[in-house]
Amino acid sequence: MKTNYSLNKDDFVVVLTGAGISAESGIKTFRDSDGLWENHPVEEVATPQGYRANPKLVWEFYKQRYNQLSEVEPNPGHFALAKLEEFLGERFCLITQNVDDLHRRAGTKNLLEMHGQLTSCFCTKCNEHFAVKDIDLDKDIPPCLSCDGLLRPDIVWFGEMPYFMDQIDEALRKATLFMTIGTSGQVYPAAQFLLLARSYGIRTLGVNLTEPENRSFIEEFHRGKSGEVLPELIDLLIKE
Ligand code: OAD
Repeated sequence: MKTNYSLNKDDFVVVLTGAGISAESGIKTFRDSDGLWENHPVEEVATPQGYRANPKLVWEFYKQRYNQLSEVEPNPGHFALAKLEEFLGERFCLITQNVDDLHRRAGTKNLLEMHGQLTSCFCTKCNEHFAVKDIDLDKDIPPCLSCDGLLRPDIVWFGEMPYFMDQIDEALRKATLFMTIGTSGQVYPAAQFLLLARSYGIRTLGVNLTEPENRSFIEEFHRGKSGEVLPELIDLLIKE
């Protein structure tokens, strides 16, 4: 493997990950399965309208995704990114579109989970947030622990505003390298970060199994599985 880049401790790296980085841990990606998410049309389980129409089904779906977390482990791709953060310290920011907890479990600290997280939920009435481990998952639609409202998963659904957009822009403005990993580049605003990075004059690097939609904005592209490519690539990038 070869790379044109090398990093030193003055670099600031922003990484965007998508479903591809967790694929080798056994979590299915979205668009590799005909627009279905674990056999459900996305509109049914990933929109506010879907929740309003059938909150029981939506909870059933996310309870399954939540329970799956205890059956999967971070893979070498997640660990390689944690190693990169160890090298760069504060000069590293990982933005993920994933709602699993695998980056956190691999040790990533400066993590922006822009599409929310499976381990959290909030009340549709009082807006208070709770850890899913603390709520009553035996109930079809778990009730709020503070008021009589209904809880919903803390997932950013289609049509909702992703989290941390200000922090993401701030990180991008400081970056010297932007890496996009395991994402098809089809869902906005995440797909736009690569274009923003280029417009800020930041170098760009991609790792993906297939060519993403926004491939033309990636200066150095490594085709392959992130769990195989990243450990070697990151060792090369931080070799002094
Ligand atoms: P996608 O399923 O759209 O894309 C996954 C990408 O990862 C594809 O380009 C695959 O080729 C690639 N891939 C698969 N296995 C890989 C591997 N082992 N190593 C590297 N790449 C691999 O998933 P996302 O781009 O993450 O939103 O989807 C973005 C958003 O759309 C998700 O966050 C989700 C979804 O609807 C919400 O839930 C709000």
